[in-house]
Amino acid sequence: MSDLRVNKIAGAVLATGLVVLGLRTVSEALFTVEQPEKPGYAITIQEAAAEGGAAVADTPPDWGTVLPIADVAAGQTVSGKCASCHTFDKGGADGTGPNLWGVMGRKPGSKAGYAYSPAMTGEAGKIPAWDYEHLYEYLKAPQAYVPGTKMTFVGLKKTDERVNLIAWLRMQNDSPAAIPAPNPAAAAPAAAEGAKPAEGAKPAEGAAAPVAAGAAAANPPVGPTPAATPPSGAKPNPGA
Ligand code: HEC
Repeated sequence: MSDLRVNKIAGAVLATGLVVLGLRTVSEALFTVEQPEKPGYAITIQEAAAEGGAAVADTPPDWGTVLPIADVAAGQTVSGKCASCHTFDKGGADGTGPNLWGVMGRKPGSKAGYAYSPAMTGEAGKIPAWDYEHLYEYLKAPQAYVPGTKMTFVGLKKTDERVNLIAWLRMQNDSPAAIPAPNPAAAAPAAAEGAKPAEGAKPAEGAAAPVAAGAAAANPPVGPTPAATPPSGAKPNPGA
């Protein structure tokens, strides 16, 4: 008798153990905590931006569109951030950085009498002259764009500041660079919308002039304006 009791108790304990184990497995399956492969926070540094300067979210604007409406006066104000190192007037002295009169269209690192870093003179091997595009990229993050440059300026992060400055910088020149024609690609989507209402008119006309009574009843509303036309068109026909 007592043996049987012991067996029962042992059985109950075993069963409980099994249930607990089973629950654990189930709950583990249900509440899986995803472990990161490497512990710690993921900090992604975009190397690509440093390499080419062309960051994904900050592509140069369409110059033909933005330059005519740029705020040149605001650009001159921005140039105050450069004034501790650069002069912009014609024949102005070099400071920490070279005089920048006529820099647009000039070969990088080529102002006579100024001692550039090898990085900047080396830039001349990559681009023939400073233009809108390259000034835009360079001024965003000079040291990322020309690694090793001795221009220790953090850069202008705001795109409108750069555009306005470039619009002003363009004028500090004996022969300001031409403004390219605007690229009309951006204006295209609006035209496609206009076609829809014209198409909608055709089905309505077809329904208003049914050839046979049966046909009119069989395929009533084809067009997007069914409410008024089919009922009034259908009523006279069955009598005839
Ligand atoms: C802290 C000083 C400093 C500031 C501020 C600074 N620059 Fe410079 N800049 C330099 C130096 C130094 C160089 C020469 C770089 C080299 O040789 O690597 C230079 C070079 C340049 C060049 C290339 C010139 C050439 O002849 O190829 C341009 C363009 C330029 N700076 C524009 C600007 C503009 C625009 C600003 C303001 C938004 C600015 N810099 C702010 C120090 C500065």
